[in-house]
Amino acid sequence: MNANLLDGKAIAADLRNHIKTEVQAITASGQRPPGLAVILVGDNPASQVYVRNKQKACEEVGFLSELIRLDADTSQEHLLSLIDDLNQREEIDGILVQLPLPEQIDEETVIERILPTKDVDGFHPYNVGRLVLRMPLLRPCTPKGVMTMLERTGVDLAGKDAVIIGQSNIVGRPMALELLMARCTITVCHSKTKDLEGKIRTADIVVAAVGRPNFVQGDWIKPGAVVIDVGINRLDNGKLCGDVDFEAAREVAGWITPVPGGVGPMTIATLLENTLQAAKLHQVS
Ligand code: GUN
Repeated sequence: MNANLLDGKAIAADLRNHIKTEVQAITASGQRPPGLAVILVGDNPASQVYVRNKQKACEEVGFLSELIRLDADTSQEHLLSLIDDLNQREEIDGILVQLPLPEQIDEETVIERILPTKDVDGFHPYNVGRLVLRMPLLRPCTPKGVMTMLERTGVDLAGKDAVIIGQSNIVGRPMALELLMARCTITVCHSKTKDLEGKIRTADIVVAAVGRPNFVQGDWIKPGAVVIDVGINRLDNGKLCGDVDFEAAREVAGWITPVPGGVGPMTIATLLENTLQAAKLHQVS
């Protein structure tokens, strides 16, 4: 059996087209376009690529996009005062501080300083709390993008056993909350988990977010399962690969995401969705 491919690149392009059409309608009615400010501190090479892709996507759909680059030795105080300014600016709907931050800056303090209605990453405790309580507002982009992909499979999620590998604030935890809200039974695995392989073998849905190339073996996958690979790992030969052994897993799975071209483009398209959502919040208030 060969799995159906969950083509994140195509679904993301479709989302961007819809967003572009909405932005055209907004500006045609005389309103300003949605605006996103992205702050990059330091010169982490992966972060530079992510930020460039986010900016490119903003331009494609007609958003106002502002990139603020700060030196690696920027003080926390300076970053916080910059966020205060962006919180005040009327034409900025979303503020994204690219993570990780240099060690002199405390991530939680920075995230909490962003106005919750401008927190397009969905990382502020207010937005996380709303997700916990099943009344989401701005939702973390990668897990929300995964939910959009799962919807496209047509698979009924209610009652499915979902195993999430990884417990990060950015992916694992909000992913668990999203799947729980969709009425899956969830298991969140991490480095202390006993019998990880056995747990994956029983899963109807596997979300891998460990950051270890080809970690999930093909023969761990239950026949017909949906396999979502959040990993983006660079191999010594320069090639990208996911956390799942794709070639082996595709022989067994019902649906599978490729890397690249799976979850990655969905994260960025979902950031655009969140920025548009934030713009609508600001327009009515
Ligand atoms: N670093 C890795 N992923 C993300 C993300 O989704 N948002 C931000 N702000 N930083 C990240």
